[in-house]
Amino acid sequence: MGDSRGVLETGVKEEVTGGEHAVDDRWVFYRDVSRSHPVLVKGSGIYLWDKDGNRYIDGCSGALVTNIGQGLPGIAEALAEQARTLGFAHQSRFTTPWLLELCRKVATLAPGDLNRVYLVSGGSEATETAMKMARQYFLERDGVSQKHKVIGRWHAFHGNTLGALSMSGTVGRRRKYAPMLVDFPHINPPYCYRCPYNRTYPECGIKCAYELDTVIKTESADYIAAFIAEPIGGAATGAIVPPPEYWRIIREICDRYDILLIVDEVMTGFGRTGRHFAIEHWGVVPDLMTVAKGMGAGYFPIGAVIARERIWEAFLRGSGKFVHGHTYGANPLACRVGCAVLDYYTEHDLAKNSADIGQYLLDGLLTVLHSHPNVGDVRGKGLMIGIELVQDRDTKMPFPQGGGQAAERFTRIALEEGVVVYPGGGAVDGVLGDHFLVGPPLIITKEQADELIDRLYRAFSRFQ
Ligand SMILES: Cc1ncc(COP(=O)(O)O)c(C=O)c1O
Repeated sequence: MGDSRGVLETGVKEEVTGGEHAVDDRWVFYRDVSRSHPVLVKGSGIYLWDKDGNRYIDGCSGALVTNIGQGLPGIAEALAEQARTLGFAHQSRFTTPWLLELCRKVATLAPGDLNRVYLVSGGSEATETAMKMARQYFLERDGVSQKHKVIGRWHAFHGNTLGALSMSGTVGRRRKYAPMLVDFPHINPPYCYRCPYNRTYPECGIKCAYELDTVIKTESADYIAAFIAEPIGGAATGAIVPPPEYWRIIREICDRYDILLIVDEVMTGFGRTGRHFAIEHWGVVPDLMTVAKGMGAGYFPIGAVIARERIWEAFLRGSGKFVHGHTYGANPLACRVGCAVLDYYTEHDLAKNSADIGQYLLDGLLTVLHSHPNVGDVRGKGLMIGIELVQDRDTKMPFPQGGGQAAERFTRIALEEGVVVYPGGGAVDGVLGDHFLVGPPLIITKEQADELIDRLYRAFSRFQ
């Protein structure tokens, strides 16, 4: 059974209250049932405190969620006020002012004519919804259609529900449920550090993008509704950034075969990579875009699918009904918090801070870690940085244990040094490969970035 007593010493201790309630974890079914969990009692800005007063820098914003930092009184007041006035309304019968306002804000930020916002309560709901919206779009548009498959990428993560997992390519998360998954095709990711074709950019000819063309031909475009990918690889690959031509080629292939392009911005959306949406780095407009994490920034669960006008129009001219929905989608509490979060995000120009401090952090990490024998690659954009751990930096040989165990070990050491990172594994071949994400709240300052670099450096000194 898990043991939730705080056992860590981060070196920075402060007085906190709230831990007195945390006495017994025997009723809890944790995700990792055998691990001990420090008991967190407070979050403020980029910092977290456990019940023993240990302070941590949240170097990964939970799971790249708490983009505007924790403990903002304005967001708490908005949530409380909404709970007092109208806590719930079901979207099948009513709309609310905050729903309208939130959709306007999201559509205004989104590129091109991504103007129609369908609200849900999280990332998996968003990608699951996009998958069904793509399928129904072709039925609405053409009356009869065989288009139903979604092509994904290996080592991508789009969520843990069965549709989202079917589109995902992260082997470790899929394997136990493989018999229950839909048989969707996958292509290789644009993973230049370990090119799946053993080529080097730019001589590679961006084979990883043209593989989409090959798979569509093999499967027949008649059966393919969409292609889904993260604009910059997230949890499963550790911030892999595709080459400059990649997204333009993908967009052209989707257009050529009448296939919708779904870009999953659940992790990258709302400033994480230094632009409102990561796909803007490539100047491409997808047909559907999924968002979640940074939209509620940890204050409330919320997500969305943002659709281009022509998708919405097909539903309007067709049956008029999207046969899908979840009870808590577009609820007033989520919408109100979403509005307050996006106001804070735009008023403080956090996309710009993410670009500026992200570059500063990346440069700083490269400087202090470049000669560490176990640091294979440091990559990313804005405040989404991935560090790939290897057994030998010259040969790029991964750690032999697999399953992200080395990344987990590093994460534990980093916690002891007072910084939280987001570990992952399996990107080399589904089993081998260790990396972690550094993605602090977008409000982080230069001084705090220095502190983060210093703590990671100390963790790496012990990792050897
Ligand atoms: C790109 C991406 N899509 C979807 C999801 C699933 O989101 P959720 O955990 O909110 O269901 C995640 C979660 O990490 C993600 O990173």
